[in-house]
Amino acid sequence: MADKKFKRYTVTAALPYANGPVHIGHLAGVYVPADIYVRYLRSINEDVAFVCGSDEHGVAITLRAKKDNKTPQEIVNKYHYLIKDSFEKFGIDFDIYSRTSAPIHHETSSDIFKSMYERGLFEEKVSMQYYDEANEHFLADRYIVGTCPTCSFDGAYGDQCERCGSTLSPSELINPKSALSGFKPIQKETKHWFLPMDKYEPWLKEWILEGHKEWKTNVYGQCKSWLDNGLMPRAMTRDLDWGVKVPVKGAEGKVLYVWFDAPIGYISATKEWAARIGKDWEPYWKDETTKLVHFIGKDNIVFHCIIFPTILKAEGGFILPDNVPANEFLNLEGNKISTSKNWAVWLHEYLEELPGKEDVLRYVLCVNAPETKDNDFTWKDFQTRNNSELVAILGNFVNRAVVLTNKYYGGVVPARGELQKIDQEVIDKLELAPSKIAKAIENYKFRDAMAEFMDVARIGNKYLADCEPWKLIKETPDRVATIMNIAMQLVANLAVLGEPFLPNTANKLARILNFEKLKWASAGNIELLKSGHKINQPELLFEKIEDELIEKQIAKLEATKKDNEMENTPVIPSKPEITFDDFMKMDIRIGTILEASAVPKSKKLLKLKVDTGIDQRTVLSGIAQYYKPDEIVGQQVSILVNLASRNIMGEESQGMILMAEDKMGNLKFVMPSDEVNSGSTIS
Ligand code: 2FM
Ligand code: ZN
Repeated sequence: MADKKFKRYTVTAALPYANGPVHIGHLAGVYVPADIYVRYLRSINEDVAFVCGSDEHGVAITLRAKKDNKTPQEIVNKYHYLIKDSFEKFGIDFDIYSRTSAPIHHETSSDIFKSMYERGLFEEKVSMQYYDEANEHFLADRYIVGTCPTCSFDGAYGDQCERCGSTLSPSELINPKSALSGFKPIQKETKHWFLPMDKYEPWLKEWILEGHKEWKTNVYGQCKSWLDNGLMPRAMTRDLDWGVKVPVKGAEGKVLYVWFDAPIGYISATKEWAARIGKDWEPYWKDETTKLVHFIGKDNIVFHCIIFPTILKAEGGFILPDNVPANEFLNLEGNKISTSKNWAVWLHEYLEELPGKEDVLRYVLCVNAPETKDNDFTWKDFQTRNNSELVAILGNFVNRAVVLTNKYYGGVVPARGELQKIDQEVIDKLELAPSKIAKAIENYKFRDAMAEFMDVARIGNKYLADCEPWKLIKETPDRVATIMNIAMQLVANLAVLGEPFLPNTANKLARILNFEKLKWASAGNIELLKSGHKINQPELLFEKIEDELIEKQIAKLEATKKDNEMENTPVIPSKPEITFDDFMKMDIRIGTILEASAVPKSKKLLKLKVDTGIDQRTVLSGIAQYYKPDEIVGQQVSILVNLASRNIMGEESQGMILMAEDKMGNLKFVMPSDEVNSGSTIS
């Protein structure tokens, strides 16, 4: 059990941006797995620092402040406390939940930057950057909007097009405008400090690609793709007035890049925690016998596996992460969770609308966690998992065992008699459970771990159903005493083993059993409750969720969809007028997809072979998030066939498939209402 190489653990969970509340995607992707891991470590008596806090810098916060007509500090204050409260109520048991606006964080990140600067570890570069003359402000990439060169969407940002997902640089935008003033920005010189990532590439390749083959395939794969494509120097400063000031002469009006300061937030939070309890923070970050684990979502992989380790390595004296078990994304009712579209189940709203059901959500998000691929949360599935698993398996077993013990023995655990084969089989299975669960947790397989835990309740249910003590109580009461003793020992084991997963339920179980929760090592046997021990009356562990509650939640999402529909329709203004001749230049036809396959290293693109009626050609289309290759073979599509061919990711793409966006931003094919021949022209 646990890694003997390590004496202590530093476990970090991604610092959420304090520009909005947290939702189920956050909980499933990062905080539930991290919390299960840490609670388990504590149960096996490991020394752990579990740190987190609010990420309060960066452009997203300043944009939000501008939109709401508030100061950035007002925004982060509001959300910091809301987020902290949600985490607490869901039992995410951080040792500290700090924030990057804390003075200790400004000092820590500033000191690390200064120390690296003084040792000449940054490259100083002057470059041209967009500048808003009306506001006398350099424009961060997110502050520039324009037309996407890939999909022609007019609201693309300078770093990314949110419609087609292309990564962009501001200079690629067609017709760029300042998001502050709406005017065309000018180009102006500015100086920044770059971390020469290219110089660390050989070391990173060795450390990750050779040294960490055990990382999850999604994490390892993303790192490999970054490293294979070659790293470039990356600016560690920004022209912005919100953040940690760059501690260098001549850097007035500049702050540290948010991805430089935010991960250092883990260190600052550890310092704050250690000072609070009179400990030394340094071993948690500098001693090789400390295991450092970062829990994050997949969009943070490059920052935690490549950029932050490079900063730690360059600064020197710090340990590096032993693992970064990043999860994929959780979708909601088939659509991507989106803060701007309000397509989310917000934790603070869940807490209000489904009070007392914190563990239900922890359970559902864990069994359905996006560990290896994106997954979908649906309210129907939530209901089924509650009713057929938590209520019917876990709750039912505990209730039967406790009710019968109260009924037959006045709540006193009876003594066991001689064991029969069926008892021994249950005992043998129970003995294996703690190590099976532990192994899964230690390997970051939280879904498997939860399934093993639920199996203990399944074993209990089956045991009672097979033994039928209610039929034996009159004739062979001694036998019933043995059965009920074993059943109650199983309940006690569930209280111990359930603590990492369902902490409220584990507490309830301890209360029902009238016992002090024990540590992990005590589980796996039938000696947890002494005979003669008096238990309490049963309490309902889980209650059935009725259709009405689920329908209400679904209706709430439907209303959001309607709001979006109304808001979305008029957003895109029409393009400048063109002539009939311009239109006639386009040769748009109906084609049929003959083959479709994924494009290696691309999450967005599918490679399609399309019968255009004229020929069969290859087209790359950014639809991988919306369609699976095998479901679109045979699909009729509209295709612009006389578009000059383009090389996309090493493949020649000949033409463009026309797509329309639905109200949730998903792309849909534009197709004829009835099947027509391939090659039929659209005019
Ligand atoms: O993606 C995000 O929400 C970031 N705020 C995560 C930061 S994690 C760490 F580096 F602080
Ligand atoms: Zn685009």
